[in-house]
Amino acid sequence: MNVKQRVEKLREQIRYHNYRYYVLDSPEIPDAEYDRLMRELQTLEAEHPELITPDSPTQRVGAQPLEGFGEVRHEVPMLSLDNAFSDEELAEFDRRVRERLEIDTVEYAAEPKLDGLAISLLYEDGVLVRGATRGDGTTGEDVTLNVRTIESIPLRLMGKDYPKRLEVRGEVVMPLKGFRELNKRQQAEGHKPFVNPRNAAAGSLRQLDPKVTAQRPLEMYCYGIGLVEKGELPDRHSAILARLRDWGLRVYKGVTTVRGLDGCIRYYNTMEKRRDSLPFDIDGVVFKVDSLDEQQRLGYVARAPRWAIARKFPAQEELTRVLDIDVQVGRTGALTPVARLEPVFVGGVTVTNATLHNEDEIRRKDVHIGDWVIVRRAGDVIPEVVSVVKDRRPKDAKPFVMPKKCPVCGSDIERVEGEAVARCTGGLYCEAQRKEAIKHFASRRAMDIEGLGDKLVEQLVDEKLVNDVADLYSLDVDTLAGLERMGRKSAENLIKALEDSKHTTLERFLFALGIREVGEVTARALARAFGTSDTKGMSDKKRVRTDIDRLAKATQEALEAIPDIGPVVAGHIVKFFKQKHNRDVISKLLDAGITWPPQEVAAAQPLQGKTYVLTGTLSSMTRNDAKARLQALGAKVAGSVSAKTSAVIAGEKAGSKLAKAEKLGVPVLSEDDLIKLLEQGEQGT
Ligand code: IVH
Repeated sequence: MNVKQRVEKLREQIRYHNYRYYVLDSPEIPDAEYDRLMRELQTLEAEHPELITPDSPTQRVGAQPLEGFGEVRHEVPMLSLDNAFSDEELAEFDRRVRERLEIDTVEYAAEPKLDGLAISLLYEDGVLVRGATRGDGTTGEDVTLNVRTIESIPLRLMGKDYPKRLEVRGEVVMPLKGFRELNKRQQAEGHKPFVNPRNAAAGSLRQLDPKVTAQRPLEMYCYGIGLVEKGELPDRHSAILARLRDWGLRVYKGVTTVRGLDGCIRYYNTMEKRRDSLPFDIDGVVFKVDSLDEQQRLGYVARAPRWAIARKFPAQEELTRVLDIDVQVGRTGALTPVARLEPVFVGGVTVTNATLHNEDEIRRKDVHIGDWVIVRRAGDVIPEVVSVVKDRRPKDAKPFVMPKKCPVCGSDIERVEGEAVARCTGGLYCEAQRKEAIKHFASRRAMDIEGLGDKLVEQLVDEKLVNDVADLYSLDVDTLAGLERMGRKSAENLIKALEDSKHTTLERFLFALGIREVGEVTARALARAFGTSDTKGMSDKKRVRTDIDRLAKATQEALEAIPDIGPVVAGHIVKFFKQKHNRDVISKLLDAGITWPPQEVAAAQPLQGKTYVLTGTLSSMTRNDAKARLQALGAKVAGSVSAKTSAVIAGEKAGSKLAKAEKLGVPVLSEDDLIKLLEQGEQGT
């Protein structure tokens, strides 16, 4: 094979693997192999520049920045879509279509409505020659150099039977994961973050320097065609999309056909449920009469076809006003500014508050009291203020000032250097922190006190019936039954739930105490380390006190020696037990009768502290089984080899990891060695 043939062969292979990766979502080769093909092509082209063609996969970036974008006139105008905001409006659309076509049931193509920006791609003889934005529908901007950098857009079509000139239309989007990463980078580099993925996609495509676009995570999904010259296309929209896919263009895999209004409603409901788990934003679904002949009979009104409609989802972003900014105090004293909003219906619910996270965030977004803001509520995520509409700022808008004293208890507020959050220093003196501490103590994963909800906790603290968590256990039925909105039966149930909660486990109890940064995992580690397992005839009462005493006396060093406990958490634990009022509350809780069973003897962990890497195929067990058994013995199983790896376990056809182990001098074990290691460890337990 001569160089020219090799170059062509490589290009063909790379195009094929791009297609497997981007269009079929089913790569055939590992990334490393793809990179190798690409590098070989780059090397050959560097040695033989005369062989470089504009549609070579190496030629995505490379051009110099532009002075400005040229204009592109769309030979076939790029239209927009009519919207339906309810099932009734959708039914109206379907009725009009049926009446005009004089048929009973319409077959529709059903697609997601991607929230990005519309792009037209022109292919001549299968080669991408132009990319353009929609602009006003008649004239757009020439963004050819930028669209060439998007890897899901083929520079050359696959197959042979494509029209001589073919204009493909679709949406360029920025997937959510890429959007979040980009915004992190923007902030780290001191640039303004983008408000949403659509703006980020638009901003990225309208860069004069294609090198910038190339670094942005953009993807294109195709949803139709424009100009077609010299070529035959199928007579149904769905079949055209399938054809585009065959030519190597990306079409979203959830595109399908449905029958009649019922089919449309079902598709809408399914997609609405899936909306939050999709990798990109969609703002509705689109229904298009599938038959092109029927489309033609229906025609157009003004700037939208009569044969298509966008059924929009409820908006996830809305405009409203900030009436005030309050500061909430959390369990650990963290102060969170919260915007009180003029009620607004967004994401399917009425929103009246939105978190502003912290002071820096307010400065960054420049939120004033009185401002008009965009509020976003997506899925079950708590509502947040996305941005301020600056040119609507009223004259009397007031900047936010973080209070110097806790708004609840008046204690000083401290903001540790380098931390974003400000905290109230009042501790359990602060009523807000106390309420939150009690709510946490009662919660399901802590002491699990059924019937002790947030509202009741607030009522109990407000009425001074409960001052700390231990006071809960002194409540009686009469006192509770005397509370507003509390019947005798509920009072009795709550007392029973409190009694039941006294039988707990050490790890739940430690978690319930609400020590800073001690979550369930840390609580479990502490219980394992300090719980008594060998009771030696000790009474239960004595044993539970012993457990707590040992933990309370543990030094910073002793705590840091426990797996997964770092210096910061250890510091919080030491500080917690140093405070007399914390020890008193625990004492009161134990007096009230809280108890837990002896600690189960932890399985021996002979491989604690070791890290293994598995590579190649094992014959006597799967890699997952081997991993689980190693982990049960306390070992870590990592995905890549480093100098810290204890050993690499190499099965059949072990590859680069084995080579790396040899290079780093990391011991290599065979499958037989592994079996011996596991058996020895497991016998020891
Ligand atoms: S079809 C004549 N299909 O929505 C039909 N548009 O409001 C023209 N869009 O400018 C468009 N997903 O940017 C169509 N599956 C889809 C779409 C879609 C998103 C956008 C497109 C268009 C706008 C119209």
